[in-house]
Amino acid sequence: MVANVRALAAKCTYAVIDKGRSLADELPALQTKVEGKDKGLLQELCYGVLRYLPELEHEARQLIQKPLVAKQRAIHFLILVGIYQIKYTRIPDHAAVSETVSATKPLKHQHLKALVNGILRNFQRKEVSPEDNLADAIKFNHPSWFIKKIQAGYPEHWQDVLLANQERPPMWLRVNQQHHTIDQYLKLLEEVNIDVDLIDEFSGAIKLTQATDVNKLPGFELGHVSIQDGAAQQAARLLDCQEDDNVLDCCAAPGGKTCHILELTPKIKAMTAIDIEEKRLVRVQENLARLNLKANVIAADASKPELWWDNQQYDRILLDAPCSGTGVIRRHPDIKWLRKATDINSLSVLQKQILKNIWSLLKPGGTLLYVTCSILPEENYEQIQQFISDNNDVELIDIDNTQQKIGWQILPNEQSMDGFYYAKLKKKNNG
Ligand SMILES: C[S@@+](CC[C@H](N)C(=O)[O-])C[C@H]1O[C@@H](n2cnc3c(N)ncnc32)[C@H](O)[C@@H]1O
Repeated sequence: MVANVRALAAKCTYAVIDKGRSLADELPALQTKVEGKDKGLLQELCYGVLRYLPELEHEARQLIQKPLVAKQRAIHFLILVGIYQIKYTRIPDHAAVSETVSATKPLKHQHLKALVNGILRNFQRKEVSPEDNLADAIKFNHPSWFIKKIQAGYPEHWQDVLLANQERPPMWLRVNQQHHTIDQYLKLLEEVNIDVDLIDEFSGAIKLTQATDVNKLPGFELGHVSIQDGAAQQAARLLDCQEDDNVLDCCAAPGGKTCHILELTPKIKAMTAIDIEEKRLVRVQENLARLNLKANVIAADASKPELWWDNQQYDRILLDAPCSGTGVIRRHPDIKWLRKATDINSLSVLQKQILKNIWSLLKPGGTLLYVTCSILPEENYEQIQQFISDNNDVELIDIDNTQQKIGWQILPNEQSMDGFYYAKLKKKNNG
């Protein structure tokens, strides 16, 4: 039986916020319970509630007299789903209200039908006038600890960063240059009327004007093209692998960057792709298979090379470190609520440990590319600055297209890309 979309959205956002589950773990299973356009609507409602959570909670607080607790929490989230629709979607208000009210039945709280109806009707009738003295957490829809960090890191741009996190992310394509040049693929897109908004001059990443179904992309099934943000597509060109190289990708899953490197250097001597999460390595294998590429895939802990390393030093290492993900909030709005302030310090300790232990696996003269999808200085340039001052065999290589001193910090939506950080480090021969 096809399920009620609003009820599913309430369940999903309840699981993320109250139970700490990730959207990526919750949403796909719920998507299988609806059909056609409702799949898109379910995604829109879940993402929307998570993007605007503090603001929706603020509105709800003024309308709910007695907080909905314990088993009634799903109804609390249903009310947020209702307010979101009235405030942010084109669904006519009367339909949004009646559909949301009817979701009380599948949520097994039909006795709260009148309550939900009353609250949503009151919201609908409410004068919408902007409030002046709202706290930043409500105004910008981010947790306060995070706003403070962004204000400290980017005193001049903090508001832009927070606003960019609220944007809907664009769809970027990576052309498999084993099959087509960028120009050839652009022609194929034109033939099927898919509009291109821009092409990144450094990587050749293609940004579409509008997201599209992957099955409409010429050659997708054949591995001629992949979906990957423009920022993530900088990794392969910056690492600049050559045919004779022995390469390590030490945090590889789901394999986007491993595959990109192999597409650009198909005759590479050896590519070892490791990740600590065995389950996530299945995705690496699937991506390699779709693209007809080969790598030595191992489940292993990058911070403990003594357990898996074969004593062959690497010419190039990609360290796409586990990080806060604060650069990709526009794609994963649940990150705002799942990450806690205390996580940042433990992540920075882990990054430091991996960097230190992996460095010894690099040949003198070799290159390591440190990458995160974070925008927090402690995971990025502060981490690299510390590493350079702790080790006398590290040379920081300038990244051509940036004037920044230590690495390249891309902020969310800068050149339409995700927030990423890159630092290119060379091991001195005298080390
Ligand atoms: C940012 S993701 C990598 C994305 C990947 N490079 C890509 O482009 O598709 C970070 C990865 O690090 C892995 N990871 C976390 N701790 C690790 C460790 N100690 N050793 C190896 N991998 C680890 C996580 O499982 C996760 O898959």
